Amino acid sequence: MMTQSDILAAVTLLASKLKEARAAAVLSGAGMSAESGIPTFRSGPDALWHNIRPEEIATPLAFARDPRFVWQWYRERLQTACDAKPNPGHYALVSFARGIPDFTVITQNVDGLHTAAGSRGVIELHGNVGRARCVGCGSVAPAPTHGALPPRCECGALLRPDVVWFGEFLPDGVMEAASDAVRRSDVFIVLGTSAQVYPAAGLVDEAQATGSFVAEVNPETTPATDFCDLSVRAKTGEFLPLVAQRLA
Ligand code: OAD
Repeated sequence: MMTQSDILAAVTLLASKLKEARAAAVLSGAGMSAESGIPTFRSGPDALWHNIRPEEIATPLAFARDPRFVWQWYRERLQTACDAKPNPGHYALVSFARGIPDFTVITQNVDGLHTAAGSRGVIELHGNVGRARCVGCGSVAPAPTHGALPPRCECGALLRPDVVWFGEFLPDGVMEAASDAVRRSDVFIVLGTSAQVYPAAGLVDEAQATGSFVAEVNPETTPATDFCDLSVRAKTGEFLPLVAQRLA
């Protein structure tokens, strides 16, 4: 358990590291959006992967077997994301970026909330639930919020959610861009991720290996905790605004 004074000491330390930083980066996961009302995958009573196995939804094989079923699930995710608003944690990162010349938000989230809050140049490792991609011609379009499922492209082929599924490569260039940002960073902050899914989780090891000051904000410990210089047991929507106040 961290006491209130432990939390305040962590705020002071992280704010001082960020003040000195020429470059910083963050890696966010589902916990970052939890306070916006979006369920996480592995934690809490509504965790998505407690209700359905990822193999039944988030793989190319699942889509080939039953595209309608997969689309129904992603349409619910899209609806939840459309109804959600960024929380104070998302906005705190926007204010961090004002003070740090080179600040990069890397996210595993597909809900678009960092961009909605005002973060620029967000690196979306796992795609975006708001887009659909044609399995035939590869064209990308907004994911349809209404109409029959599965949707089809003008070329006649099926559209699929433009997200990354298990067993797939990440979109071209995103991991390289994320690694570059991590290697440039003096401070790297791991926010609301269980740090179990690779290659995203590998960015934590990379940050430590390149000598960044590595911090984690998560109510629970994770496999990344041991790699961190500072590990804060707190919610991102509560902790990050305290740091932003010190930077202002
Ligand atoms: P997880 O659901 O695995 O982990 C969410 C983390 O957020 C947990 O460690 C929680 O303790 C933490 N958490 C919960 N509420 C929080 C809060 N208010 N503030 C801070 N942290 C909080 O989600 P991810 O790590 O994002 O990929 O999962 C990674 C990937 O696995 C996802 O992108 C998705 C999933 O399968 C694909 O679908 C390919």
